[in-house]
This record gives sequence, C-alpha cells and structure tokens, in this order.
Amino acid sequence: MIPIAKPLIGETETQYVMEVLKSGILAQGPKVKELEERFAQLCKTKHAVAVNSGTAAIHAALYAAGVRRGDEVITTPFTFVATANPIIMQGAKPVFVDIKEDTFNIDPESVIEKITPKTKAIIPVDLFGQIYDYKAISEIAEDKKIKVVEDACQAVNAQIDGKMAGSLGDLACFSFYATKNIISGEGGIITTDNRDYAELARRFRHHGQSEQTRYEYFDLGYNYRMMDLQAAIALAQLEKVDAFTDRRIENARLLTKGLKDIKGIGVPYIKPGTKHVFHQYTIKVDGFRLNRNKLIEHLNKNDIGCGIYYPKPLHLHPFFMKAGYKKGDLPVSESASEKVLSLPVHPSVSKDDIKKIVEVIKYA
Ligand SMILES: Cc1ncc(COP(=O)(O)O)c(C=O)c1O
Repeated sequence: MIPIAKPLIGETETQYVMEVLKSGILAQGPKVKELEERFAQLCKTKHAVAVNSGTAAIHAALYAAGVRRGDEVITTPFTFVATANPIIMQGAKPVFVDIKEDTFNIDPESVIEKITPKTKAIIPVDLFGQIYDYKAISEIAEDKKIKVVEDACQAVNAQIDGKMAGSLGDLACFSFYATKNIISGEGGIITTDNRDYAELARRFRHHGQSEQTRYEYFDLGYNYRMMDLQAAIALAQLEKVDAFTDRRIENARLLTKGLKDIKGIGVPYIKPGTKHVFHQYTIKVDGFRLNRNKLIEHLNKNDIGCGIYYPKPLHLHPFFMKAGYKKGDLPVSESASEKVLSLPVHPSVSKDDIKKIVEVIKYA
C-alpha cells in the first residue's frame, strides 16, 4: 500500500529522545527552549512558544490576540475543525466566509462583507501547505484594526514573496501532529514578533502563571505545555525540514506532470510567488470517467491510499449549523468538498510510486 501519510523517524530522533530520557527532564525543559529558538529562526520571527498541539496553539494565540466572550472571529469552513473550535473555546463566535476556487484559501472579498464591530480577528488557513492571500488580508486587518492569527498548521517552511509562513500575521500557529510535514507525535508552536503576545501565550500554556513569577496566577490558563520528549523529536525533524520539503515539492511536480492532461482531473494551482509545501497534494475530480467514490475504490484496489480533505465544510456540520448556517450559504467551499481528493505526496513516496499512481488514474 502507498499510504496517504507516513511518519519518518530515523536515528537522530531515537538518539535525541534517548538523551532526554537519560537527562531526567521529561516535561517542559531545555529541549523545548531549544526548539522555540530554532523554530523562530526558521520562521524569521522574534518569538516562538511551544505547546502540546496545534489546537492549543490556536487557542493560546486567540487568547493572546485578545479574543474574548462575545467577539467574532472570521475564518474559512474549508479546514480541519481545530481551526474553529478554539474560537468557541474562547467564548467567541466563528463567522465562516467562502474560499477562492483555485487556492482553497479564504476569499478576502468575502471577509470584508462579514466584518462587524464585534470582529476581533481573522484566522486564514494555509490550506494543504499554500499560504493565504496575506497582502489583501493584512490590508483589511490594518484598516479595520483586526488581528490576524495565521493557521499555518499544514504549512511549515512554506513561503510567499520570500516571507516565511508564521511571519505574516500578528501570530501564527503550527502543528507537529504525526502526519504533518514535521512531527513530534502531538505538538504545536506559536510564532510572533510581538513580545507581549509571546508572554501571554507562555502564561496561557501554564495555568495563567508567568514563567518568571511561579505560583502567581494572572488569568485563566491551561496545561498546554510541550514535553522535552516531544521537543526532542521535533528538533531532529527540524534538521531535515528542507530535505522533507524538497521531496514533497518534487513529488508534487511529478504528479502534476503525469496528471495534468487527464480529462476530469484538476491538478493543484500554485499561486505565483508562493512556495507550496504540499502537506496534501489535492486534485479536483470533476467530469472524470469515474466519479470520486469509484476512483477511490479503484485506487484502494490498486494499493494506493488517498483521502478527502474535507468531505463537508464546517458550516454544514450539526455543531455549527446550530448557529443558523445552511446548505448553499458558502457555495465554493461546498463544491470543493464534493470534488477534492488528496493523493500520497510525502517524502517516502518514490518515483515508481508516482508512476503507478499516474497510470492507475490514467487507465482507470
Ligand atoms: C488546518 C489545521 N488546523 C489545526 C490543526 C490542529 O492541529 P493538532 O491536530 O496538532 O491539534 C490541524 C491539524 O490537525 C490542521 O490541519
């Protein structure tokens, strides 16, 4: 089987984890600090704050950005639920707006339409590894005095106009979940240039205590701390991030070369000036001789894994429909959900695997 995702754990990960086990410091300690320094360097930001998931990163970033009960936060429904849940965890209301058909990323025009006096922040998502339209979103945010929290959970090492993912909004959030481009099993990190935001995020991950004055609680916080054991894995992965990224980009290029002329298969669009890091390689199945379900069956029969990200936009799930959303509200997201199909693109996918994927689709 060519799996849709595969964690790549090597000697370095094992060695770094063993060092932590022998050090006696398993929970947050020097390895977490080292990871924060290295990750901030990668993103070219002043600060990074490690936490124990991407979800925790988004929650802490929203807290640091000042999102509180009664506020509204604008985001895309064409994403993983963890983009939106932290908005609700902060007592605020997610306001979903539609996406652009080509990039699957939030449509800045639709954002403008939904801004109200209650809007506190926007969460654009770098979906599948391609950065959102940061120029348009930054302009809107500056004009309306709204914060931007970038959900870069799928986009470590991505770039746009020479700028790194994680450096574009007020704060950004990454995930090191086991299927991501670099991993720690579970884990996440927040990046920002703003010292106060970094301090607030540090407090939030630690029950509202400042890390300087322990056992003094300034606000509500959580136990969102990352373990040194997790940081050890992430540090080893970080050393390989460029090699991993290059492999994904090359695999995507070969897939596109093989698939681009097949009728009814739409290959991923790469916006000029962006370095798309292909967390997912997502095609659109639209007018192909097999419908999407039949194509999935055919791929699986030929030992090729694939996945639908995402089968239904968030606003059409029972939890979010309680807020009054209905089918037809966000047609571009709804239509994308019916067509998308992600194919294996991770660094373990070989040239032969790609040849097989292309042929299995071409001769389906
Ligand atoms: C777009 C997006 N946002 C948020 C998350 C949440 O990250 P985690 O699973 O580490 O909590 C993920 C990954 O799962 C994601 O893909």
